[in-house]
Amino acid sequence: MRDAGKLLASCHQEIGKRVRPGVSTWEIDQFVEQYLRENGATPEQKGYHGYPYATCASVNDVICHGFPSHEPLVEGDIVTIDMVVNRRGWLADSAWSYAVGKVSEDAQRLLRATETALFLGIAKAVPGNRIGDIAHAIETFATACGLAVVRQFAGHGIGREMHEDPVVPHYGSAGRGMELREGMCLTIEPMLNLGAFKAQIGADGWTARTVDGSLSAQYEHTLAITPDGPIILTAL
Ligand code: MF3
Ligand code: CO
Repeated sequence: MRDAGKLLASCHQEIGKRVRPGVSTWEIDQFVEQYLRENGATPEQKGYHGYPYATCASVNDVICHGFPSHEPLVEGDIVTIDMVVNRRGWLADSAWSYAVGKVSEDAQRLLRATETALFLGIAKAVPGNRIGDIAHAIETFATACGLAVVRQFAGHGIGREMHEDPVVPHYGSAGRGMELREGMCLTIEPMLNLGAFKAQIGADGWTARTVDGSLSAQYEHTLAITPDGPIILTAL
């Protein structure tokens, strides 16, 4: 999983060099497919419950599971690229949000806070803590920032399957839920909105948008729980 995660992290780094006004998320998706293939890996999302692409590309008010599109990105957009890498049967899952050129102060604040929320959640992923400790840390910080936590989607266990137990919500009470143990691998993937927390699914059956059109951002890492603290498997 570390091997899959390192490749995924390097792929995000390459995406970061390519995201700019005029580039389409379809081109980014093509790049990812090729990059993974060249490195002996496959995009696990493609074909997962019929999902048609290697990546999810979620622009502005899209919360998650957006389809890559030929529409070029424009200055001021924010876009989340999410993917799951399969390398020799083991998986890693990570999403980053990117700013397209210069973005508004609100967008910058949302991106920074969402990444910070992820790291506050990761810090709670230690043996003896509970799932709710992760959730509570994220929700408390997001609320203090005046941001809303999406409730309809959650992190998850991961290994040879993309979605394994446990479910890892990003809101909830400290001290509740499953106890975390050494050796568990899971994702934490908060989605924060500038406006209301609610999501609505589009006619394609996948694209989840904010109900009020407000911006949404997401950062996700896959981690392993050890006695020495969490190992972020999707870091370089
Ligand atoms: N990577 C997503 C997650 O974090 C899964 C996207 S759904 C898929 O769980 F169908 F696109 F795979
Ligand atoms: Co995930």
